[in-house]
Amino acid sequence: MEGKVIAVFGIANHRSIAFGISQALREAGATLALNYQNERMGRSLDKIADRLGDPWRRECDVTSEEAVAGFFEAVREEFGGLDGIVHSVATAKREELGGSFTETSWEGYELAQHVSAYSLIRLCRHGAPLMEGRGGSVIAMTYHGSVKAVPNYNVMGVAKAALESSVRYLASDLGPRGIRVNAVSAGPIRTLSASGVGGFTSILDQVAEKAPLRRNVTTEDVGRAARFLLSEDAAGITGQVLYVDAGFSVMGL
Ligand SMILES: NC(=O)c1ccc[n+]([C@@H]2O[C@H](COP(=O)([O-])OP(=O)(O)OC[C@H]3O[C@@H](n4cnc5c(N)ncnc54)[C@H](O)[C@@H]3O)[C@@H](O)[C@H]2O)c1
Repeated sequence: MEGKVIAVFGIANHRSIAFGISQALREAGATLALNYQNERMGRSLDKIADRLGDPWRRECDVTSEEAVAGFFEAVREEFGGLDGIVHSVATAKREELGGSFTETSWEGYELAQHVSAYSLIRLCRHGAPLMEGRGGSVIAMTYHGSVKAVPNYNVMGVAKAALESSVRYLASDLGPRGIRVNAVSAGPIRTLSASGVGGFTSILDQVAEKAPLRRNVTTEDVGRAARFLLSEDAAGITGQVLYVDAGFSVMGL
């Protein structure tokens, strides 16, 4: 990945999946351009930035069209172009990640969709012009709760279904411009976001017990698979969802 510039959205701390992906990219020689959601997340990122070689970074809330446009304009000024985008961003109201799905509020549904699914379309709209002619690659992080009803995942499962469908439509739309779009479906990992899902520890325990590999995955596992999809080795792959879940999703019982 020497000479490749990859924009990574979604590092909150050293447990973040985006941090694992950034480490894998850096090991392979990529140059990183990072976002942080707000000032607080910026301070958190400052504390671990040296572990990523103190990369270029800028505040960008993905719900703001203006902020996203400004982020990519700044990337263009700094690096002259872009080779990849990592979308590792999601949110939902805590009260919607547990209890009855039927009680999902419109506000909670809209928030989950905006941050976790629509934002991918927005990143591609502003990022694609920087990747044209460079064989760009975009990846988004998803979870099996998009295709199966996972207890408590609720509104986020619906957002992930929209995200995965968006991956296919974006792949179709951007493919003729030489840009690939894929998703990585990670098994459960204990992160800041995951701590909001009711009964998360029980999900981890069940995966360790029942997945073919009899373990949970790590951010390193996910980082290396994401790096593959971002690299030339995956040049023929677009519109796909690659499961990195120790095989859990193939089990019937
Ligand atoms: N942890 C898991 O078990 C798991 C499994 C599969 C998929 N995922 C997905 O991986 C991705 C990363 O999550 P994570 O588990 O690393 O958690 P995390 O909390 O470390 O990362 C989530 C990130 O989203 C950012 N974010 C939220 N709202 C934002 C906004 N409006 N603008 C900009 N950034 C915003 C946060 O700042 C944070 O950096 C998410 O899409 C998540 O759904 C997580």
